[in-house]
Amino acid sequence: MKYSFIIIAGLLAFSACDSGDIYPKEEEYSGRNVNVTLHFFGVNAWPEEYELKLTSFGDNEDTPLTTLLLEKNDEGSGTYLMHNVPFEAKNIAVSIMNNRKWVCNLNEQQLSGSETNISLSDMNVNLVQYNRIQEQVFNQCTACHGGAGGLYLTEDKSYDALVNKASSTHPDKMLVEPGLPNSSFIITVLTDAQATKTNHTTLSSLKNDDITLLKEWIKAGAKKE
Ligand code: HEC
Repeated sequence: MKYSFIIIAGLLAFSACDSGDIYPKEEEYSGRNVNVTLHFFGVNAWPEEYELKLTSFGDNEDTPLTTLLLEKNDEGSGTYLMHNVPFEAKNIAVSIMNNRKWVCNLNEQQLSGSETNISLSDMNVNLVQYNRIQEQVFNQCTACHGGAGGLYLTEDKSYDALVNKASSTHPDKMLVEPGLPNSSFIITVLTDAQATKTNHTTLSSLKNDDITLLKEWIKAGAKKE
């Protein structure tokens, strides 16, 4: 009995060695290799439902040519290598995406020259910058908050309408109080239906990531840049 096991094991080992294909097939080469170091700020607002990606773009900015998913980086910085970036790619960006749809770019850099291996200069990635707040969160609100009267959450108007502005319905509260997410009425409106008697908690597009982003932005001082 013991011997037959040894023989079978031996046969298996032999056939495994004999099966060929031990070395990976040579990959067909296309495009460039782009190397970049990213420095992250506001890592608590790292997306979980949305995706943070390194992307390359050509003339059509809505459709990335290549993407590389960036996993949460607690170190604050990291060096990344994107392979097979086509020669028609003109920019590299750090982008927020929603199910492969582009939401916004946090930073971008032009690709130039014709080398195959490119090292870009370091890029700062501010995860709580205001254009992300506008494009990821407030662009969901403008159907109701972009018309005549009431609260304007459109680009160019949203910041001044919110930061250090008292609520019209609860004048003792600020809509956004820099540094203090728990005192900012906008968070109450979006998370607590009982407290405000509005239906914001049922907005189907609103994700937990959006609330986290708003809180982290307020905590970091609710800056406009
Ligand atoms: C379906 C329409 C609708 C959508 C979408 C909507 N809201 Fe509202 N919102 C209202 C109404 C109605 C009120 C109460 C009246 C008012 O203050 O304009 C209100 C009130 C508010 C208030 C309180 C204003 C105050 O002065 O007290 C805030 C803050 C707010 N909304 C934020 C948002 C944000 C952020 C979004 C997007 C994530 C959003 N709303 C999406 C309809 C909407």
